[in-house]
Amino acid sequence: MQIITDPKEFQSVCWSWRGQGLTSALVPTMGFLHAGHISLFTWARANAEKVAASIFVNPTQFGPNEDLDRYPRDPEGDAAKAREAGVDVLFLPEPGAMYPEGFATTVSVAGLTEGLCGASRPGHFDGVATVVAKLLLLAMPTTAVFGQKDWQQLAVIRRMVRDLDIPVAIEGRPIFRESDGLAMSSRNVYLSPQDRALAPHVQKGLQAARAWKAQGVTSARELTQRLTAYYKDAIPTARPDYVACVHPETLAPLEDASGPALMAVALFFPGARLIDNLLLD
Ligand code: PAJ
Repeated sequence: MQIITDPKEFQSVCWSWRGQGLTSALVPTMGFLHAGHISLFTWARANAEKVAASIFVNPTQFGPNEDLDRYPRDPEGDAAKAREAGVDVLFLPEPGAMYPEGFATTVSVAGLTEGLCGASRPGHFDGVATVVAKLLLLAMPTTAVFGQKDWQQLAVIRRMVRDLDIPVAIEGRPIFRESDGLAMSSRNVYLSPQDRALAPHVQKGLQAARAWKAQGVTSARELTQRLTAYYKDAIPTARPDYVACVHPETLAPLEDASGPALMAVALFFPGARLIDNLLLD
């Protein structure tokens, strides 16, 4: 596995793959790799001739009161995991190389970014869209791979790629979970042992919502009210940021959840804000 820190060098290696007619997959990450990230690498390895991964804790997607400074990092452990998973090139840029003096461009996707995480993290998706646009233009992969855990992020990236005619296929992969159902996240390490023990209720509540729908509850308001009450009871230490029932593609809030419906939640635990989602069909 080759480790590259210079964007231009990364670009020249990845573009040479294109020149040779090889298929390639890019997996962008912020590192502190867990089995969810590895599942993306594994998919990439099985579906492309060349695999590039990036690890970059992107400062522009963190708000002023968020966890940029304490975001967990483990570059050496990450490199070993990426090598093991069959990554060909690992891109590890410094912030100054991605955003040099005078950097002035922002990619902003309207509409889709207004609700859910966008409502409580203003500017977050501008940071994500801008850095992902840069990574796509550097790597120009055949396919870029993202997780469905960040459902809204995936929708924003799909929209951006369509709108800007970026010639890359976007692959969304299922949420990889701990054996007790907690969605894997680099931020799970922030949870106290007590909160870690309660955290599986985030998914259990989503599954309950799916069961309520199967039993005939199709009012989105009723579903979100029931789920909010479930969380209040099962995880008293967590404060919901949002509990939302939305259309899976437009992310518009639903009134009637009898058709395609996504239940998406974010909860503030004392140590970390966790997100999860589940299609109700
Ligand atoms: P990060 O949180 O490191 O996640 C990198 C990729 O891994 C994202 O596509 C995310 O959806 C996926 N992922 C995270 N946890 C997962 C899980 N439990 N199962 C499956 N996939 C999972 O998301 C980001 O970084 C950044 O916003 C980034 C896209 C890299 C832009 O900076």
